[in-house]
Amino acid sequence: MASRTLWKIPVLIGSVRRGRQTPKAALFVKNRMEATGKILSELLDLREINLPIMEERLGHREDPPPGLQFLADKIRYGDGLVLVSPEYNNGIPGVLKNALDYLYEEFHRKPVAIVTVSNGAYGGINALAQLRLVLLAMGANPVPTRLPIGNIEDMLDENGTPQRESLQKRADDLILDLLWSVQKASEMAQ
Ligand SMILES: Cc1cc2nc3c(=O)[nH]c(=O)nc-3n(C[C@H](O)[C@H](O)[C@H](O)COP(=O)(O)O)c2cc1C
Repeated sequence: MASRTLWKIPVLIGSVRRGRQTPKAALFVKNRMEATGKILSELLDLREINLPIMEERLGHREDPPPGLQFLADKIRYGDGLVLVSPEYNNGIPGVLKNALDYLYEEFHRKPVAIVTVSNGAYGGINALAQLRLVLLAMGANPVPTRLPIGNIEDMLDENGTPQRESLQKRADDLILDLLWSVQKASEMAQ
């Protein structure tokens, strides 16, 4: 077992929509991770980072747009990552795919937990499956446990507090899975 006391695992908010719900889920997972006492987390918000349309990947550019290096460093130097994405038209939002397409090396063997949200019953499972494929293409290591959150408007309040106990249990299962992968990745890197 790796002996590190605090793992760095940021949470990326993959929605910039006006009136968006996704930050509630991001805050919820961040809070649950920090409650383990083993994880130091922070929110990375694509609305704040505000990247332009990708013309070329970071590794091939000498003039990265503002915010891109910040995002890349947060992902590269994190022990793992949580991606929180809404589902739009059966897929992931363009703004999230655009951000991911800027990056590549930063994701190498990175343990990533995927959380998706929707206002319907299925919680964005199509987006979840797509995001897995995207992450695999980037050489990341998406963890097997999934957390699709349906009926997002009622499921979490503005502070990310779950309105059902089952959601807390599902989030904790995801975090346990992510921590396992993070620890294994760290052991292998030594
Ligand atoms: C452009 C658009 C397309 C959507 N398509 C889907 C969809 O295919 N499946 C689904 O379950 N929900 C869909 N929804 C509903 C979203 O899941 C819901 O609005 C959710 O709150 C989106 O996250 P956000 O609030 O962070 O944008 C769509 C919403 C928008 C704005």
